[in-house]
Amino acid sequence: MSKPIVAVTRIIPETGLAMLRDRCELRVWQDELPPSYAELCVLAEGAAGILCLLSDRIDDSVMDAAGSNIKVISNYAVGYDNIDLTAARRRNIRVGNTPGVLTETTADLAFALLLSVARRIAEGHAYVQAGRWKTWGPELLRGYDLSGKTLGIIGFGRIGKAVARRGTGFNMRTLFYSPSAEQETFGEFNASKVDLDTVLKESDFLSLHCPLNEASMYMINREALMKMKKTAILINTARGKVVVHDDLVEALEKGWIAGAGLDVTDPEPINSDSPLLSMSSVIITPHVGSATYETRSRMAVMCAENILAGLEDRPLPYQVV
Ligand code: GLV
Ligand code: GLV
Repeated sequence: MSKPIVAVTRIIPETGLAMLRDRCELRVWQDELPPSYAELCVLAEGAAGILCLLSDRIDDSVMDAAGSNIKVISNYAVGYDNIDLTAARRRNIRVGNTPGVLTETTADLAFALLLSVARRIAEGHAYVQAGRWKTWGPELLRGYDLSGKTLGIIGFGRIGKAVARRGTGFNMRTLFYSPSAEQETFGEFNASKVDLDTVLKESDFLSLHCPLNEASMYMINREALMKMKKTAILINTARGKVVVHDDLVEALEKGWIAGAGLDVTDPEPINSDSPLLSMSSVIITPHVGSATYETRSRMAVMCAENILAGLEDRPLPYQVV
């Protein structure tokens, strides 16, 4: 009997690919750049499983291209806004993701960005590299304290909570806004649930940890940014489309907020002429929230486990639908 075809849209860590090689015919996209949409459809032809990345749009046409063999779509990410779940459900295709493993890793990056913007780390590094460091300066590169400040978190799932825990260690008070969180406080972590207005108005640091959906799409717009403190710093490690980037540019130019740390942008990659790239109060990283050796390997294993279960018509260990 021939082995089922599994289309893999990029080279992922070998820990995952090795689990699939014996059981499947692997069709792995070899380029660093993603397949175009047309190439993705060709790659998916006849596949029983698709192992994809958050940069691959998996919609009706890709599922049609795969044809009647397709049983499982395994996303190499926790977020799955790139997959049309309605289309998958209609075809009884199981969809899996990689929850949990990247929680601490992503929270670390959110905090790294927060500290970097607050303490002007990238600017300081550039200053030293440029040979401008002449002496100790009483007013040189002053930033903001974390201790005693208010950390605002939008989206209080696993990652949001992990960021709140970090805030405790830095002696911060945490406010969270989450339409779905049932708890009113987060016990020992000094966090209280508030409405959106309050989290916008009271946060010194506002960190986004919501999934991208209809409610969160472009939630941080002009109106929201105008409510924030002039000294506030916005951190986004969630999805670029939660923030209206033109409005963020305006907010930073007009001093409605003080700075931003972005690991995700809209679009991705960010346009090379974006004014955000030349602002000293903004730090941008290329969507690397989960990018550690440990986590990316574990994500590859989880993705492979999801594929193997789906091929055998079993519920996925990490199933979205
Ligand atoms: C990364 O953004 C993920 O959703 O895993
Ligand atoms: C992701 O793991 C989340 O629920 O925050």
